[in-house]
Amino acid sequence: MPPTENTPANSSTPGAGTPAIEFKDVEKSFGPTTVLKDLNFTVAPGERVTLIGPSGSGKTTILRLVMTLEELTGGYIFVDGQPLTHEDRGGKRVELPKKRTREMTTRIGMVFQQFNLFPNMTVLENIIEAPVHVLGKSKADATKEAEELLERVGLADKADAHPTRLSGGQQQRVAIARALAMNPEILLLDEVTSALDPELVGDVLGVLRDIAETTDITMLLVTHEMQFARDVSHRVMMFDGGQVLEEGPPDQIFNNPQHERTRKFLSSVL
Ligand SMILES: Nc1ncnc2c1ncn2[C@@H]1O[C@H](COP(=O)(O)OP(=O)(O)OP(=O)(O)O)[C@@H](O)[C@H]1O
Ligand SMILES: [Mg+2]
Repeated sequence: MPPTENTPANSSTPGAGTPAIEFKDVEKSFGPTTVLKDLNFTVAPGERVTLIGPSGSGKTTILRLVMTLEELTGGYIFVDGQPLTHEDRGGKRVELPKKRTREMTTRIGMVFQQFNLFPNMTVLENIIEAPVHVLGKSKADATKEAEELLERVGLADKADAHPTRLSGGQQQRVAIARALAMNPEILLLDEVTSALDPELVGDVLGVLRDIAETTDITMLLVTHEMQFARDVSHRVMMFDGGQVLEEGPPDQIFNNPQHERTRKFLSSVL
């Protein structure tokens, strides 16, 4: 991918080689309803890709499939070239052992619109839970890292607070810290500012901009914050009816979309 005017200045252009994420002939049905069909795309290591498209076009479903929160009903997803849930064995589609899939998903973090923090745990406990229980870190190491992450998201003084005592923006920054505590190679962000009061959006986007600028985490995100998408994404993919309608650098998609459907969608959200 050639650098463009719009490529974020700090980041190197993601390279070729094995994709961080690959969708191959992906199909997803909920009962009789097929939401995604023959979907193929890749995301390069370190690349930040924003998914846009009308409500119901399948954006959340795509992220949830990568996080293995939804069952893949057809095709394959690869992470770092390795199958995530199913593999092809001599022309047969075979489900991988659950243990293998769980190991693969430890490389992936997700932040949701509704935060999904554990309400019965403090902020610190929320953050160290998975590093201790999934990665087997010592409580002391996990706590030290959690404190650094809280510093980073501007919540160093909230370690012992319960999530219910925090504002939505603070809760979402804890959720981001919790995802980062697993040191993910891939971060999935699904409309993480959509549930926030407008005055709280900026802090959360600021934290995400910082992560984009200072790490090489691969990001797949859904957002209606078009300026943010423009600033942090290398590529924007417009979905419609479970298919990629068009894709390209943010400049191209936002300034010069090729499809009338994209133009209409953008004018409705901008
Ligand atoms: N658990 C489910 N059971 C049945 N249908 C579902 C389920 N989850 C999603 N769908 C359907 O799949 C389609 C895609 O939904 P999805 O949530 O991925 O869309 P989206 O692009 O994220 O939309 P939005 O912009 O509103 O968040 C929709 O038609 C939705 O009704
Ligand atoms: Mg959605």
